[in-house]
Amino acid sequence: MTDSRPGPRAEPAAPDQPSAVPGHVAFIMDGNGRWAVRQGLPRQAGHVRGVERLREIAKASYEWGIPVMTVFAFSTENWNRPGYEVQVLMQLFRRYMIREVDDLETRGVRVRFLGQLERLPEDLQRLARQTEARTAANDRMTVQIAVSYGARAEIADAARRLAAEAAAGRLDPESIDEAAVSGALWTAGMPDPDLVVRTSGEQRISNFLLWQAAYAEYAFVDECWPDFSRERYRAVLEAYARRERRFGGLSPVAVAR
Ligand code: FPP
Repeated sequence: MTDSRPGPRAEPAAPDQPSAVPGHVAFIMDGNGRWAVRQGLPRQAGHVRGVERLREIAKASYEWGIPVMTVFAFSTENWNRPGYEVQVLMQLFRRYMIREVDDLETRGVRVRFLGQLERLPEDLQRLARQTEARTAANDRMTVQIAVSYGARAEIADAARRLAAEAAAGRLDPESIDEAAVSGALWTAGMPDPDLVVRTSGEQRISNFLLWQAAYAEYAFVDECWPDFSRERYRAVLEAYARRERRFGGLSPVAVAR
C-alpha cells in the first residue's frame, strides 16, 4: 500500500533545483567588511547585508532539501575586533533570533549553536538556548550557527571532557576512537560537512570545523558574502555534483585496471 501522507519532501521541487545536493553544506561567510568599504559604507552595513544574504541562502538550502547547513557567524578570534563592531554583531544576532525563531519553528527547522556560548552576553545565551529548545524536535532541516566558535577550542574541550571521564573511571582510555572524539565535539550527532564554501576569494580554513571537514570538498568563491547570490550558490552545487569523492580510496576507473 502506498503511503499518501504528505511528507516533508512532498512539496514540488524548486524551479532552480540543483541536479544533486550534499547532505551538509558549511559556509565561511567572509568579506562583509570589504564589501561595505568598496561601496563607501561603514563596515557594519556589510554585516547588515550579510544577515539578509544568510536568510536568502538558508531559504535556498531549505527549498532544495539540503538537510544540514552550518554558518560561521563569529569566531573566537573575532572577540579581538573593535568593541563597537562586536556590539553591532551581537545586536544583529539578537535581532535575527528574535525575528526568525517563529518562522524557523513552524517550518520545521532545527537550530543549534556551536561555540563558547558562555562568552556571549547573558541575554543572548538565553535566547540561543530558548531557540534551540523551541526547535529541538524539528527535523526538516538543521541550521548550525557557529558563534564564538574555534575548532581548536572545540577539540581541546572534547579532549578535556574525555580525559575527565577517564580520570573518573567512567571511560577506558583504550576505547577512545574517532567516533568517541566526534561524539565529544559540539557537533555531536550531526553529519560531517560534505562541502565547505568560503566567500571573498580567501583560501583558508580559519579554524573552522577542522575535525569534521577532514574529507569535505572546498569551494572558494570570489564574491564577498553580501554578493553571494542564490544563483551563485546553485553554480557551486552543480560544480560539487561533478566532483568525484574518493575518501582516500581509489577511483572506480583505477580499481578496474
Ligand atoms: C566576515 O566578514 C563576517 C563576519 C565576521 C560576521 C558574519 C556575520 C554575519 C553574516 C551576520 C549574520 C549572522 C547571523 C547568525 C545572524 P568580515 O567582517 O571578516 O569581512 P572582511 O574580511 O572583509 O573584513
